Amino acid sequence: MKTLLSIVLFCIINFHKIIFAFVPSGRGEHNAVLVDKKLYFHGGWAAGEGYAPSQLFYLDVSKSFTILDISLMPWTNLSSISGVTCKTGATACADETTIYYIGGWHCGGLVSKFNTISLQWSEPTTSGSIPKEEIKFVHCVILENNIYIYGGYAVHKMNILDTSKLFWSTFTSSLIYSGTHFYSATLLNDSILYIGGAFHSLDGCQTNSNQELPISIYNTNDNTWRIVVGFNKIIFNFNYISLYY
Ligand SMILES: *[C@@H]1O[C@H](CO)[C@@H](O)[C@H](O)[C@H]1NC(C)=O
Ligand SMILES: *[C@@H]1O[C@H](CO)[C@@H](O)[C@H](O)[C@H]1NC(C)=O
Repeated sequence: MKTLLSIVLFCIINFHKIIFAFVPSGRGEHNAVLVDKKLYFHGGWAAGEGYAPSQLFYLDVSKSFTILDISLMPWTNLSSISGVTCKTGATACADETTIYYIGGWHCGGLVSKFNTISLQWSEPTTSGSIPKEEIKFVHCVILENNIYIYGGYAVHKMNILDTSKLFWSTFTSSLIYSGTHFYSATLLNDSILYIGGAFHSLDGCQTNSNQELPISIYNTNDNTWRIVVGFNKIIFNFNYISLYY
């Protein structure tokens, strides 16, 4: 009797696994954003398929799991939510509840918005100095109501989207030591640190005459740039960042 029960239970559990488990397929150029212990994945490109199937899903990182069997990881498919559009090579930034997906190649608008509480997807219309199609393979940084996006292919400007007014403003600049895409962007206090990146192609970042890689720092209070070379101190600060985030 016990054996029969075990067999029945085994079948039910595995049947459940086969029928209900959502397992995302492989992809690249997608976004992954953490909001309230859920890691939201959106977009991406799958070789031979174009836009990756199942464009929106999350991994619940508040639950314990191993990565030995990805079908047992706590995934949830949100792709059936009304209006979800596809993107690849876009950038994504979130406040406490809402994720903004911007740029890339897309089948919707330049800006898409996902509310993680109401589970509503929308494609808001923005105004102001709307960036052209250059926003690809870049990083955004969000600070209060403002999303900062530097560059794009060969474009040297800072685009700022005010998320409360859905209004874009632009500051032109020519960064010497950071590329216009593939760079890293890190918020530190009121400043954004830009490191590395590429200019027109995969030509790498520039170094100064001492072969150092200076860091370009954007001050969000007055929209000015400065360059920092003092390396030991910065590396110490990065350790500080990784300890606290
Ligand atoms: C995720 O949901 C979408 C929309 O309902 C569906 O087309 C897709 O097959 C689902 N993905 C998987 C792997 O179940
Ligand atoms: C950030 O703020 C802290 C505390 O006010 C300060 O010690 C630190 O130098 C600041 N970092 C930068 C890069 O401005």
